[in-house]
Amino acid sequence: DSSAAVLGLESSCDETAAAVLRADGTILAEAVLSQLREHAPFGGVVPEIAARAHLEHLPGLVRRVMAEAGLGYGDLAGVAATSGPGLIGGLIVGASVGKGIALAHRLPFVAVNHLEAHALTATLPGLVPGGARFPYLLLLISGGHCQCVAVEGVGRYRRLGTTLDDAVGEAFDKAAKLLGLPWPGGPALERLAAQGDAARFPLPRPLLGRAGCDFSFSGLKTAVANVLARLPGPPGEQEKADLAAGFQAAAAAVLADRAGHALAMLPGATALVVAGGVAANAAVRAGLQAVAAKRGLPLVAPPIRLCTDNAVMVAWAGVERLQRGLVDELGHAPRPRWPL
Ligand code: KG4
Ligand code: ZN
Repeated sequence: DSSAAVLGLESSCDETAAAVLRADGTILAEAVLSQLREHAPFGGVVPEIAARAHLEHLPGLVRRVMAEAGLGYGDLAGVAATSGPGLIGGLIVGASVGKGIALAHRLPFVAVNHLEAHALTATLPGLVPGGARFPYLLLLISGGHCQCVAVEGVGRYRRLGTTLDDAVGEAFDKAAKLLGLPWPGGPALERLAAQGDAARFPLPRPLLGRAGCDFSFSGLKTAVANVLARLPGPPGEQEKADLAAGFQAAAAAVLADRAGHALAMLPGATALVVAGGVAANAAVRAGLQAVAAKRGLPLVAPPIRLCTDNAVMVAWAGVERLQRGLVDELGHAPRPRWPL
């Protein structure tokens, strides 16, 4: 039934989100509350603060999206909540709120894998003209994740490669911190890089050209620290901009190279799909676009609000699972680690 609606909840990291989605993919309501302000003084996400903030904000957010959708809980076909991987406190909050609603209104509950939700976003009807078709390659690049996944169907995922150390967003944030930019530094680093000369400080491109599609970024971050340490004094504005540009160019080159290798590992791929906050970076996108084009494939990048953590993707994964009868028990335990 394409008019049936699913409530989706997301609370695995530092975004509190709720959305109501019709089974045909129509978004009836969506809301995201970022906790950036709560965590910024600490220079990163503090799990305990995150869990408390989810607890404080999620119930109100649910009421808001339900009112906006014009639905009562009894009208829902099910409730889907991210149940891993992520920070366990936040996962418990989201899953418990979802189970409570399911229990009170006798609705099916779906425990959604956050990575599956990112992976299936590209198939949301209306997002991609003509729709993304299986199989495609997903490059998930955020602050917490950095992996290449072959998406061959709903429930059919193969991880082709992952990071051996830092996620790429984490590397952006660490490099930005070295340059004195506020957390999370990715967007600020990109703005600074626009004023810089990437060729001034040549930085390493870890694993470039290596077989497979694993990633490594900690050496790149260390290289930035080493350049700074070797300067005769504190870096001037131009030096900071040049380093930012050098870092961004190296990161973009590595991502493009690794994605190219991954595409070669999935010969039937119909598209290169990108998700995660780092997908907002124009240099990264340009590199990925070029690598996809070389194989005659489109680069599919969902709008940025659906690339970063959100509840629309969770509701959509819920729709797909419900349609296949993949319902979970109310006793389902959230899992901080949950590989696809
Ligand atoms: O997907 P996301 O919002 O949250 C999770 O990590 O789950 O991704 C956030 C990450 C941060 O590391 C942030 O610095 C990075 O994405 N990011 C960027 C840009 N915008 C966000 N990195 C580089 N360039 C950007 N424009
Ligand atoms: Zn995510």
